[in-house]
Amino acid sequence: MTRRTRVGCVGTGFIAGKHLSALAGFDDVDVVAVADNVEERVAAAASAHDARAYTDGVDLVESEDLDAVWFCVPPFAHGALEEAAVRRGLPFLVEKPLAHDYATAERIAGLVDGAGLLTAAGYHWRHLDLVHRVQQLVSDRPPLLLTGSWLDSTPPVPWWAHRGRSGGQQVEQTTHLFDLARLLVGEVSDLSTVHVPAVAGDGPEDRVPLASAVSLRFDSGAVGSVVSARVLPARHRVGVQLVGEGYVVDLVERAIGDHELTVTSETGTVSERSHQDPIAAEDRAFLDAVAGRSDGVRCSYAEALRTHAVAWAAERSGASRGATGA
Ligand SMILES: NC(=O)c1ccc[n+]([C@@H]2O[C@H](COP(=O)([O-])OP(=O)(O)OC[C@H]3O[C@@H](n4cnc5c(N)ncnc54)[C@H](O)[C@@H]3O)[C@@H](O)[C@H]2O)c1
Repeated sequence: MTRRTRVGCVGTGFIAGKHLSALAGFDDVDVVAVADNVEERVAAAASAHDARAYTDGVDLVESEDLDAVWFCVPPFAHGALEEAAVRRGLPFLVEKPLAHDYATAERIAGLVDGAGLLTAAGYHWRHLDLVHRVQQLVSDRPPLLLTGSWLDSTPPVPWWAHRGRSGGQQVEQTTHLFDLARLLVGEVSDLSTVHVPAVAGDGPEDRVPLASAVSLRFDSGAVGSVVSARVLPARHRVGVQLVGEGYVVDLVERAIGDHELTVTSETGTVSERSHQDPIAAEDRAFLDAVAGRSDGVRCSYAEALRTHAVAWAAERSGASRGATGA
């Protein structure tokens, strides 16, 4: 009989809900504990999953006998949780971004590496069937140009618009596109950002810029441009376009679990829509790695750190150039 995997989840907000419902759908997993510092939220999740409730995530990691833990907390809440997991030798899946800054993520990466700990990061696009299709297509015809867009509303969670808490739009959202860019085009050798700052006095200090544009150069010689905006009533476009010799690829995310790929090449235009749940695929791959059944994790902590470095550099480049780019 297959041994059941005992897991916990710290954070019980939006993305934790997606992971918890995926985990509840697997017949070899028990969600035994959940944590959130908002009592009503953790009580609801604990009752839905028949799990123990904690209001302190470190306490959960230190008290429970788990096989793995999910960290689904806002960017500013990372550090102590991962340190506790490393101390216990407990494999963890952490949602992107790794932290609101670079120093925390770099420090945790060192601890994870030193402990040889199994980890995964929530760059879920890597688990999309459509992304695999694109990887195959570009394997013998490398992209020359990448254009990415994250044109959206400001997420309603209280921490998001404060750059000191979320890290900013590049670090918190557009990071998915930087991760795809690394996967499909290769490492970034150079970048530069200009942005439109938020109006002074409008909410907390250090507000996330309203819009930004990042120019990229890749090791391969390819170039790119990634734009972000957070001023719309709803998501308008989230995706990337790749141009290579004889083809254009468009990959768009309408919502998690609703993606579309359009490829135009010498043979015409083909579109494909996917309703695959990449969060469930990412969770399954991590669970199988935890159980020692396979090595299907597509983004470890160390790999995610390289993407985080690009997003962080994009955010800092905008901040250092100010509103005029001077
Ligand atoms: N992969 C994706 O596409 C995707 C989508 C949405 C969010 N996310 C990421 O997931 C993370 C959480 O986002 P969200 O939308 O779920 O936010 P959220 O605000 O809905 O949920 C976060 C929860 O964490 C709790 N929390 C905060 N600090 C905590 C701490 N120290 N210990 C325990 N609980 C704590 C909050 O009370 C809240 O319930 C963010 O990093 C975000 O970027 C990823």
